[in-house]
Amino acid sequence: MSSTLGRQFVVTTFGESHGPAMGVVIDGVPAGLEITTEDIRFELQYRRTGNYLVSGRREADEPEILSGLYNGKTTGAPLSLIFRNTDAISSLYSEVSHKPRPGHSDLPLIRKYGRENWDYRGSGRSSARETISRVAAGAVAKKLLMHVSTYISGYLKSIGPVDGTACTDPIASLNSKKFQTRAIDRETDERFTALIKSAMKEGNSYGGLAEVFAINPPEGMGEPVFHKIKAELGGAILSMPAVTGFEYGMGFRASRMKGSEAADEIVKAGGNRLRLKGNLSGGMLGGLTTGEDIVVRCAFKPTSSIRIPSKTVDLDTMEPAEISVTGRHDPVVAVRGVSVAEAMMAIVLVDYAMILGVIPHARLSEKESGTIGERWEEYIKKCRS
Ligand SMILES: Cc1cc2nc3c(=O)[nH]c(=O)nc-3n(C[C@H](O)[C@H](O)[C@H](O)COP(=O)(O)O)c2cc1C
Repeated sequence: MSSTLGRQFVVTTFGESHGPAMGVVIDGVPAGLEITTEDIRFELQYRRTGNYLVSGRREADEPEILSGLYNGKTTGAPLSLIFRNTDAISSLYSEVSHKPRPGHSDLPLIRKYGRENWDYRGSGRSSARETISRVAAGAVAKKLLMHVSTYISGYLKSIGPVDGTACTDPIASLNSKKFQTRAIDRETDERFTALIKSAMKEGNSYGGLAEVFAINPPEGMGEPVFHKIKAELGGAILSMPAVTGFEYGMGFRASRMKGSEAADEIVKAGGNRLRLKGNLSGGMLGGLTTGEDIVVRCAFKPTSSIRIPSKTVDLDTMEPAEISVTGRHDPVVAVRGVSVAEAMMAIVLVDYAMILGVIPHARLSEKESGTIGERWEEYIKKCRS
């Protein structure tokens, strides 16, 4: 059961939804990076549960840093963090224990690992609780990316049949941090909220589409054949629970376009700098980053745990059965999914920036660390403004 991602910035997540804690080990963080629990909390707030539009599970999400820090700075040793599980109610899963939910991981896990080894409580490792570890690693990755002045930001483009305002300037997507639904403006937030409330009332759920940007990424990250940057980003995004689709730049629209429409025009942009005018390839060409902003989109399916009854088979009797899931679930997983997608993008890009050598893999000087700190503060201010 692989739980590790990355070659230079290596992230391993662990823990089960109803076990004692979730956690993450990040190996390969250069020494000298200032990290506080406040930095981690800042990013975690965007995937938190407990408000009325998402899962009602009320977790403290309090990070405990166990290793890799000395005097507030990384030492180069594995940075490890845990988050204690404080609000698990396993009895809510007693029906799931013998009636696998359609559209969830229950049946394939039972088939592969055996019913006797299956931790159905809160969906075990398949729970979105695991994504807290990803977002924590993403916070460290986002901070390290400040070394090359790269910012990661995303928003929710649509939920079910409701299209929100599309973001035309990546930096404007930071505005979505103000809204619980991760919509880009108030008007869309209101429409998303109304739809989510209607789904909750019906006991149903909706899918959604997120768009995530890397603003000002270094050029040349990736490889021309295997380990193409698009493949790594696609793999990381598709590794998120409930993601069913990934595209970048013109994406699936390209299949309906003419070559003349899809040409990423090369233009001179001051001095000898060359730019791609329309950035139709979403910042990635030939397996490498072009230096233009990276633009990816990911589709989240509707939550499979719904109150509306769906058909399954009772594993105790092997008779057809129905299941109506009444526990605490997200009506639209895409809402909290935006912050997880941002984290996955940050983790992959920092890994590739270190492989390229534009972020040092051994240590940051005091000056470099100070500049990172200043840029991080500016980023936090922008998110709050
Ligand atoms: C942020 C987030 C929250 C989620 N919340 C729930 C949930 O409350 N209930 C649920 O059934 N699935 C939820 N999921 C999705 C399941 O974890 C996922 O569908 C399941 O693990 C099966 O994996 P797959 O859909 O990728 O095949 C969530 C996913 C994400 C990203």
